[in-house]
Amino acid sequence: MTEYSVKDSVAIIQLDNPPVNALGSKVRSGIDKYIKEADRDSSVKAVVVCGKRGNFCAGADIKEFDGGKKGPWITDIGDYFDKMKKPVVAAIEGVALGGGLELALFCHYRIAVKSARVGQPEVAIGLIPGGGGTIRLPKAAGLKNALEIITTGNHVSAEKAHKMGIIDQIVSGNIIEEGIKFAKSKVHLDTSIVCLRNKHVKVDGDVDKVAEAAMAKVKSKYRGAMAPIYCVKSVMNSVRVPYQKGIELEHEYFQDLRSSSQSKAMRYAFFAERAITKWQLPSGGNYRTAKPLPVKTAGVIGAGTMGGGIALCLITSGIPCVLVEQNKEFLDKGMEAVKMQLMGTVRLGKMAENQAKQCMAILKPTVNFEDLKNVDLVIEAVFEDLKLKRDIFERLDKMCKPETILCTNTSTLDIDSIATATKRQEKVVGTHFFAPSYIMKLLENIYGTKTSAETVATVMKLGKTIRKVPVLVGSCTGFVANRMLGPYSQEAKYCVEEGASPSNVDNTLMDFGMPMGTFQVSDLSGVDVGFRIRREAARKAGETLTTKSRFFMGERNCSLIEALVEKGRLGKKVGKGWYKYDGPRGKPVVDPEVTQLIEEHCRSLGLERRTIGSQEILERMQYAMINEGFKILEEGLCTMPEEIDIIWIYGFSWPKYMGGPMYYASQIGLKKIYEKICYFHKTFPYSAHWVPSSLLAKLSKNDVPFNKWGQAVQGSKL
Ligand code: COA
Repeated sequence: MTEYSVKDSVAIIQLDNPPVNALGSKVRSGIDKYIKEADRDSSVKAVVVCGKRGNFCAGADIKEFDGGKKGPWITDIGDYFDKMKKPVVAAIEGVALGGGLELALFCHYRIAVKSARVGQPEVAIGLIPGGGGTIRLPKAAGLKNALEIITTGNHVSAEKAHKMGIIDQIVSGNIIEEGIKFAKSKVHLDTSIVCLRNKHVKVDGDVDKVAEAAMAKVKSKYRGAMAPIYCVKSVMNSVRVPYQKGIELEHEYFQDLRSSSQSKAMRYAFFAERAITKWQLPSGGNYRTAKPLPVKTAGVIGAGTMGGGIALCLITSGIPCVLVEQNKEFLDKGMEAVKMQLMGTVRLGKMAENQAKQCMAILKPTVNFEDLKNVDLVIEAVFEDLKLKRDIFERLDKMCKPETILCTNTSTLDIDSIATATKRQEKVVGTHFFAPSYIMKLLENIYGTKTSAETVATVMKLGKTIRKVPVLVGSCTGFVANRMLGPYSQEAKYCVEEGASPSNVDNTLMDFGMPMGTFQVSDLSGVDVGFRIRREAARKAGETLTTKSRFFMGERNCSLIEALVEKGRLGKKVGKGWYKYDGPRGKPVVDPEVTQLIEEHCRSLGLERRTIGSQEILERMQYAMINEGFKILEEGLCTMPEEIDIIWIYGFSWPKYMGGPMYYASQIGLKKIYEKICYFHKTFPYSAHWVPSSLLAKLSKNDVPFNKWGQAVQGSKL
């Protein structure tokens, strides 16, 4: 767990806790024991703290947060470091995150290799740094930098950290040797001078104003989340109260957060995000056995908003990309959008100008389909038309080299119906990106009946390479994300038809923690988009959909979309939809015309309106979607509830501090949810989404805890 050796009169304390040297209680006890041993040993003149396997330390062991406190805390060990007369040097490679950085901040000096990263990512799991970070990082980096690092949780490169004063020296070569060399050069210096405890915090401007601005920023950026607020409070203590008091208050805040439901949910989400990388196919292939193929070059078909964004993801990850359009006009327009997006990234300081140039240099725009013939992987991103997609796949199959993987960016179409247009069904897979595709992190990868494990492994790895969160799911209409979104948004419209207003619904969702309400999203993506999808479905079903249609395909229907489109309310792009907008950047404003339109719509259909509270809105939207989630598990389209939760967190910005809809269901209690769904089924018999899932019935009856759902799912398939 922790190794100790002495070389050249320098003691080396090496953290050894695979895979990332987390600071579990045994590791902390080891450090505590060996630092005292080094201090006692008169032949030892200095100490180097470092980590094994190319990493310093990824912070506290998150798994231990569910239990009580064991072993010495980082601040207890650190107090000893502070009193040491022998210099203690943190020698950092890989990452020094969370408790890892805090441990380094207790050392008198910090050196790092150029590729190392440091950070305090605790906020991402609903916590604050609890090992002195909020008090000591401001002393090393200044108040402003510390606030930024701690409230965002972002990693900082060693070079940037060096400029900020967190790292004393950047080194190259063997980190232990460098550590020994550096430590020996400091042996005769007074350690109390560099001890962070004694250092003043550099503050730019008035303390109260800095605090106010930081608080306002986190409250608007992370609405509803507790941890960022505590981060600001605790960091401000570094300049407001004496050192020891600051450390005590930090510990208090940390303990409060540790036992909060928000942090528990975020810790769940942390492990869920890792659990979903362990995918498996019904055919037996899995993440362990399948080897991904290299993707050295890629192609994208369609330079529209989606295709352009996908091409951007590829080139900004260093993958040369051929971007194909059907004519020069569309291609030029697409390329212009790609350039604008890159320039925006440069303006935001997220990319250097020469990097942006390098990205553009590996993007090859073309109207010649044949240019795709040698790429390793193609992503088709044309509009949702089965015949068009089949034609494209047939052409690709004939033209591309046999190894090329063919991906379709469909959001609804069955993968097999596209794959069967080729003679390489094992190499056809769905890669569903979410709009805006360059920004949204979710990548829903969909396997067809014949997709090989090797193909799945390739797109799962590609997803990580292009900085997405890839989740593997089975094929069905709408896949997992849109299939669950269906009942969720339908219930929103039914609530409006029955008496709520669009803003009632949206405010309820935002109070819950969603960044936007469903009607605001509809306005943003275009009311006519939903209208066209419905019209196409009606055409296929041989039905006519009008503003008066009470039923559609045998189910309850709400035709408010048709009523809005009839009045030219197509969404934000035309300044009016469910809301009205003052210009393209305008905020949604309640429009009395819409209120009137809804009331007239209901009157003409003889629908009675009533007051609908936020609890009913939430229950109807969320339980309908959760019920669908259980049906998805039951059908084996996902292998674990974590997959569904990650899809909602990264695809629809479900608040991480609520853990995802399935985790949320487990917190409410399945019995309560099942009973409510049965009640809604009785009350609204013409909505198929209220037919209770039999898996949910089974789990709720047997009171199965969340961590056993996976086994129950496997069981239900037998
Ligand atoms: N505690 C416990 N386990 C941890 C951990 C921690 N602090 N950090 C990582 N792990 C585990 C992961 O769960 C994963 O386990 P698995 O292989 O069983 O799924 C394994 O270490 C590798 O992590 P992963 O994230 O898949 O590897 P990566 O190379 O993509 O990223 C890190 C490495 C360190 C950057 C990333 O794991 C990370 O950010 N860790 C959390 C850091 C943190 O929040 N520290 C503060 C804790 S209060």
